[in-house]
Amino acid sequence: MKRIYLIGFMGTGKTTVGEALGKLWSIPVYDTDKELEKIEGRSISTIFSTDGEGYFRSRETEILKAITDNECIITTGGGMVLKEENRTYMKTNGKVVLLKASIEEILNRIGNDHTRPLLEGDKKEKVSNLYLERLSLYEQAAHIVINTDGKTIQTIINEIDKKL
Ligand code: S3P
Repeated sequence: MKRIYLIGFMGTGKTTVGEALGKLWSIPVYDTDKELEKIEGRSISTIFSTDGEGYFRSRETEILKAITDNECIITTGGGMVLKEENRTYMKTNGKVVLLKASIEEILNRIGNDHTRPLLEGDKKEKVSNLYLERLSLYEQAAHIVINTDGKTIQTIINEIDKKL
């Protein structure tokens, strides 16, 4: 079985790395946010503003559990690790790869992005607070940790390929 969960903070490159790995191994790639947007027919921002974070989190867990291919990459939203239920589920149903990046690098990547409801307002402060709050949850959830700062996508996927 080769079911890989990519976890990490917003802006750590989960989507880009997931797509590159899917190509490398010729296996399907699912993104939990995109799957949810497809089913709901509306954006993550709209789901947050209309139904709230609690609703989003419960739908996110449902989507996670609905992806059951034996061979696939699953890229997850940055908050997937918040629930113990999700951390345990991923760890027992596949290999969990954590993509890490420094706060500076994350801010560089998502500085101008307005599609992430949790970062509305003072991005620097929001990113720093959430990052510190979540750091240990990411570490707990992961089988493998990859530091991505200053690395190309090619280097990152080679490292994952070697470590798995
Ligand atoms: C979230 C991260 C987002 C998305 C939602 C909540 C989070 O995904 O799931 O906005 O709580 O970190 P990305 O990590 O793909 O930006």
